[in-house]
Amino acid sequence: MKLFIDSANIDEIKQAASWGIIDGVTTNPSLVAKEGGDFKETVREICKIVNGPVSAEVLSLESGKMVAEAEHIATWHKNVVIKIPCTTEGLKAARKLSRLKIKTNVTLVFSANQVLAAAKAGATFISIFVGRLDDAGENGLAVVEESLKILKNYDSKSELIVASVRSPLTVQKAAALGAHVATVPYKVLEQMLKHSLTDAGIERFLKDWESVKK
Ligand code: E4P
Repeated sequence: MKLFIDSANIDEIKQAASWGIIDGVTTNPSLVAKEGGDFKETVREICKIVNGPVSAEVLSLESGKMVAEAEHIATWHKNVVIKIPCTTEGLKAARKLSRLKIKTNVTLVFSANQVLAAAKAGATFISIFVGRLDDAGENGLAVVEESLKILKNYDSKSELIVASVRSPLTVQKAAALGAHVATVPYKVLEQMLKHSLTDAGIERFLKDWESVKK
């Protein structure tokens, strides 16, 4: 499973990239707004740090305008992937962009039927917001499981992204289900890599080694 970092914070992205396990980055308007920088500069900076797909979202809601915005954003860097919301207008735009060979990430996806539609529209990536489904009392990972089955049934080339991740367990379960990608906030990435027994083990090894030196 590929691991993306879900962030627009340059320091977080640099830090996570230095661990050697990050394959790409997803941003969204809320994440970019939180950092307060210029959108284009932020995306270009991220592309310098991570050599993989970097998702940047359009803000238009009408397909023609989405395509125009996407064509513009796609010029910023060769690794930019255009995030398009999963609406009828968004699907129309995704189809057009696929014909133009511009990579897309159909986002704000909450059902297996939306996944089917996004795949048919030629989406490069499809992002299921697992955490927001769970927040609403639904089972986000069940939607992932069914969607993966659907994509497999039809040999779809679209890659499923498990997004809106709130805990390390979601990443683990997503990998066990065979999700193509999980996009994970920095805090959760840290939680995934840390284990108190690893720290305790290091402490004991170092302590025991002291007696060898004496
Ligand atoms: C995915 O690409 C989105 O940026 C993100 O995962 C949304 O997560 P949230 O529900 O925590 O805002």
